Amino acid sequence: MTQLTLEQIAAFDRALARLSPADRARVEEIKDTAARAAAEVAPHWDFGLPARTVDGILGDGVNDDQRRGLIAAWALELPGRIAAERLPQAVLAGYPTYVDRLAAYLDSGADTYDPDFWAKDVRVSLALSVPGSNTQMLDLSSPVGPGLVVRHMLGGRGPGPLIAWVQAGGWRPWLETHTEARDLSDFNEPGWERNWAAAAALLQTRPELAGVIGSSWFFDPPLKTISPRLTYLRTTPVNNGAFMIHQGGGEIHDERASASSPTRRAMIETGEYSACSWLLCWPRRPLIRWATQHGLI
Ligand SMILES: CC(C)(COP(=O)(O)OP(=O)(O)OC[C@H]1O[C@@H](n2cnc3c(N)ncnc32)[C@H](O)[C@@H]1OP(=O)(O)O)[C@@H](O)C(=O)NCCC(=O)NCCS
Repeated sequence: MTQLTLEQIAAFDRALARLSPADRARVEEIKDTAARAAAEVAPHWDFGLPARTVDGILGDGVNDDQRRGLIAAWALELPGRIAAERLPQAVLAGYPTYVDRLAAYLDSGADTYDPDFWAKDVRVSLALSVPGSNTQMLDLSSPVGPGLVVRHMLGGRGPGPLIAWVQAGGWRPWLETHTEARDLSDFNEPGWERNWAAAAALLQTRPELAGVIGSSWFFDPPLKTISPRLTYLRTTPVNNGAFMIHQGGGEIHDERASASSPTRRAMIETGEYSACSWLLCWPRRPLIRWATQHGLI
């Protein structure tokens, strides 16, 4: 994508035109400083840190109109940021859908800016995260610290991930995949293959990255019998060179695992199952090999 369409430009202009003169002035005043500050903290493990950094710059008077205005202003500048990243075609292909989605959300008249959507929109509009598939976005830099693999081992789960992490040069930055709840249209096997292929294409152009990671309850091995339809999420990567680090359970994982499946919800309610999060790490070399062998890159 080298340019926005006239419709997309009109949608972002509309979002800016809806601001009060004071909010509009505030957006103009801070948009460049806030963009730089968000980019600086983007490689932190905390996905939401860029958005919270922007909120800090907006200060006490922060409101959702200003947030929407910033996203619109940054979206208008997105082609320049995308060009600077020199992204592969597999990633560029996702932009028309992503930009339409940003425009539609700003146009939707949603009263409050959902914090998860705000965190995602800051990253996407500043090209800190880029399209993998419709449903999966890829952060361009995310860490996997040694503490995670050491804790896995101290928990009695074996040294496998520690060895794999060292072999992968795991101290280097990784891409990280995240699920976009506003568009689950390709949360399925072909959609995930597109996402992994986009990650492989990015890794080919960025030798400094270790691979791609994703953190979720939906990689939990017991789902093989509870939700067999989701098994491919774990087995495609793991059968092709990925390794998994145990992260543990918690209310948020039970909540997410219960959200769409009556089967899992019932088992969680009765205590028969409790959701557990895992960090899936697919090192660059086996991922690129898998994508090449499948004709995806
Ligand atoms: C991740 C998520 C998108 C997966 O949803 P999904 O692809 O619909 O898969 P689920 O296993 O949850 O399926 C839910 C229900 O849809 C139906 N279903 C799903 N796929 C189906 C298929 N191919 N054929 C028929 N029915 C199907 C089933 O009834 C299933 O319920 P069941 O488990 O009781 O049988 C969804 O769980 C979700 O949005 N969760 C909350 C947010 C979240 O966790 N995000 C990720 C954060 S890490």
